[in-house]
Amino acid sequence: MYRTHTCGELRLADVSKKVTLAGWVQRIRRLGGMTFIDLRDRYGLTQLAIDEKTPEDIRLAAEQLGREFVLQVEGAVVERTSKNAKIPTGEVEISLSALRVLNAAETPPFTIEDESDGGEELRAKYRYLDLRRNPVKNALILRHRVAQEVRRYLDAQGFLEVETPFLIKSTPEGARDFVVPSRVHNGEFYALPQSPQTFKQLLMVAGYDRYFQLTRCFRDEDLRADRQPEFTQIDCEMAFVEREDILQTFGGMMQRLFRHVLSVEIDRIPRMTYADAMRDYGCDKPDVRFGMKIQELTRLVQGKNFSVFDSAAYVGGICAEGCAGYTRKQLDELTEWVKRPQIGAKGLAYIRLAADGAKSSIDKFYTPDELRQVADTLGAKPGDLILILAGAKNATLNALCELRLEMGNRLGLRRRGEFAPLWIVDFPLLDWDDEAQRFYAMHHPFTAPQPDDLPLFMKGDREDLKRVRANAYDFVMNGVELGGGSIRIFDAAIQQQMFAALGFTPEDAEYKFGFLTNAFKFGAPPHGGIAFGFDRLCAMFGGSDSIRDYIAFPKNNAGRDAMIDSPSRIDDVQLKELGIKF
Ligand code: AMO
Repeated sequence: MYRTHTCGELRLADVSKKVTLAGWVQRIRRLGGMTFIDLRDRYGLTQLAIDEKTPEDIRLAAEQLGREFVLQVEGAVVERTSKNAKIPTGEVEISLSALRVLNAAETPPFTIEDESDGGEELRAKYRYLDLRRNPVKNALILRHRVAQEVRRYLDAQGFLEVETPFLIKSTPEGARDFVVPSRVHNGEFYALPQSPQTFKQLLMVAGYDRYFQLTRCFRDEDLRADRQPEFTQIDCEMAFVEREDILQTFGGMMQRLFRHVLSVEIDRIPRMTYADAMRDYGCDKPDVRFGMKIQELTRLVQGKNFSVFDSAAYVGGICAEGCAGYTRKQLDELTEWVKRPQIGAKGLAYIRLAADGAKSSIDKFYTPDELRQVADTLGAKPGDLILILAGAKNATLNALCELRLEMGNRLGLRRRGEFAPLWIVDFPLLDWDDEAQRFYAMHHPFTAPQPDDLPLFMKGDREDLKRVRANAYDFVMNGVELGGGSIRIFDAAIQQQMFAALGFTPEDAEYKFGFLTNAFKFGAPPHGGIAFGFDRLCAMFGGSDSIRDYIAFPKNNAGRDAMIDSPSRIDDVQLKELGIKF
């Protein structure tokens, strides 16, 4: 037996027991005749003590030890004279009677402690060492617990976990596919799934009316803190349901997860239409932990000879409470912030509501009375600061959304430990792309229109199609899209109309999605589903903005795995076999 106990287990009650432990050397302290070694494993740290009474062979062996050596030790549990209240095993230590070096270790390139001296790049390269650190380990333990709770809930609700293939067919809609060349069929390619969407719908045709899967998805898209090229979804589908059934089932899942993982009660999951979210928050994933709603000012401020506002399709503002004291420098800095390419505003107008009247960057064009009207529209009071952006409608709403989040951060309104869930409903079905002169599916091409909008959809002229709402929903929390899904089309005529709206010729549609539309001819039940971003959910539980912390072996910002150095070149023989090089 390598060990009788783990390094996180021993307490005062174990004093005088003879134990065997195994683990890694975290730290060695040599104090005169005494040597203390912190031995670490997954479960914790235990202090090993060596003094003059320790057998000489052990004392000699201890002199040769370095950080991260792997040891097996034997000894008696004794009460410490100077106790460490910070760790659960801090009241005891092991007085050694045997020490065996199971393996030596090179000095690690960074310290393996809660606060490491290693930079991000170095830790990514030696991820297996980083994984030894508590914060990383705790993140993975959290991930495991969330996964177990998900399975428990869905199993109790009668869901079956079914695996679907990774080598599938390329049907890019949305993100780009990662493709895999076929050796047996030179010139042909598999694609890795962006999600199991079509397979879960086929499972509904097959009669597996409650399906789920914790599964990897692959998307070749630009990376961000909350995006990885491979990520995990809690993917779910149900047959014989309407939107309400899905929102109840998965709202219930989220409530249960918060209760069991964080002991947080989520009483209510309010619903907000896409149109309201865009109008009040400028985006479809609002952080509603705080107010500071956007107000449209277009009509109010136009026609006063201020050309920037007069020429804008949209003017809107927010009120930052208590910020009238912002200095010129702070306002200049905020102006630079909104002009960054990521935000894309042309400039920033402001009104400071000081106790002795309003001071603004647009005084020249507006009377005090007119400025007061703006302030009233925003519900601003003395001491507040009004920030105004103008330009094209969607771009300006987007920029206002970002500005609102930034001010929320600066004012400490986006409180950790507070969770504000929302269902966003009634998304548009289609998104018109002016440049490409075509519609894209806002969610995906299998999403059904709202029943009320079906006649408009089937009529199918361009202006009508822009107004059709989808029977789709997103689960949003604290400004993060945690999940999304829809009720699906299961009627052949509606699906055909959808492909036509997306500009597919019937041949195109048949080539890409024939397997699905043909299956639907054999008795497709009404169905719908949802997928949650599992990594994002874990990051939400853990209070982090970066999903990378919750993935054992993530990719870096450039989409590389720095540890195994991938992607990498492959040799000519392999290329030839795959028919890529002749
Ligand atoms: P969707 O594309 O909205 O829907 O994805 C569902 C959820 O997956 C998460 N997500 C990501 N997480 C990390 N990195 C990424 N690159 C990434 N992309 C998406 C998000 C998102 O809400 N098949 C549909 C679901 C359905 O209709 O049932 C789908 O994949 O949290």
